[in-house]
Amino acid sequence: MQLYTGLINHYKDRLPVDENTKFISLGEGNTPLIQLKNIPSLLSKNVDIYVKYEGLNPTGSFKDRGMTMAVTKAVESGSKAIICASTGNTSVAAAAYAARAGIKAFVLIPEGKIALGKLAQTMIHGATIIQIKGNFDDGMRLVKEVADHAPVSIVNSINPFRLQGQKTAAFEVVEELGDAPDYHCLPVGNAGNISAYWMGYKEYHQDGKASETPVMLGYQAKGAAPFIKGEMINNPETVATAIRIGHPQSWDLAHTVKQESNGWFDALSDEDILSAQKLLAEKEGIFCEPASAVSLAGAMRDIKSGKIPEGSKIVCTLTGHGLKDPDSAIAQCNSEDMIIIEPEITKVRDAILNEGID
Ligand code: F0G
Repeated sequence: MQLYTGLINHYKDRLPVDENTKFISLGEGNTPLIQLKNIPSLLSKNVDIYVKYEGLNPTGSFKDRGMTMAVTKAVESGSKAIICASTGNTSVAAAAYAARAGIKAFVLIPEGKIALGKLAQTMIHGATIIQIKGNFDDGMRLVKEVADHAPVSIVNSINPFRLQGQKTAAFEVVEELGDAPDYHCLPVGNAGNISAYWMGYKEYHQDGKASETPVMLGYQAKGAAPFIKGEMINNPETVATAIRIGHPQSWDLAHTVKQESNGWFDALSDEDILSAQKLLAEKEGIFCEPASAVSLAGAMRDIKSGKIPEGSKIVCTLTGHGLKDPDSAIAQCNSEDMIIIEPEITKVRDAILNEGID
């Protein structure tokens, strides 16, 4: 028997752990890299697009990669409680890994702006939820202040162990493709994840495991696009609540990524984001949350315009599972399309035949 026991154990030579470290893991990482079969031809362009489906991590988002490291190190240092501000997914991962470790999690979330699935997860894992009448940026400010006054470890991505864990996603991409892709597209909120991928790609390149590093592309939602505006913004708004952030924590790191990789940032409208989410679900059978679809929406736009040239190999990270946000999925579908019938065979047969299937 050979259990996969999570990314710290798998990459322990490349992470800040030693033989005495007790790993807190839920088997995170090792997520599928899926080649898109139908969307490239819809774009009428000759490109290879792959999605790194991070929604298949244990709590349904990429946050588990960072949280396994952050909680492992918090426990190692004797911490009995962790705290984070969150647009939802970080709070879920903090709650789950704290439960696993037998420590306490406190999460600060913007009142009424957390997708339903994330709220359910955070509640069932037993975190103490502090809803704030403000946004993520307010929560982040408070978390930084309170950590000086209370015995809690911050597990937001300003905790350097988070990015260490998250860089392993780049390792997996290189291992599966046999080299780095030409372009790597990511949704950007705090910009921790794009910075982590870049660390991972650079590390594998320096060690000769990849012959090149990708051009890194960071996409934001138009109503929450400080990187495109070039300055922090105060009232971010978008349907992609996971990236409803105006004051990104990894501002400098992300600019370094853009510069070093010859990449760019751009913004997508909520409409473009939702239509990419639906296209992916309808044409490829892959369900991601709205914030995740930003990466694909951006890639599709830049492929169509030729900014990403034909012949390119492109990876888009799908950061979270679609089940996180059932409300936004249902809102995009027409419930009148659902057929309601009496429980009779003729009615079922008619329903099938009416769809025009031969
Ligand atoms: N996609 C999803 C699904 C997210 O939850 C987040 C961030 C991002 C993308 C952006 O990643 O911040 O590293 O640039 N969510 C954080 C949270 C803010 O609290 O769950 P980033």
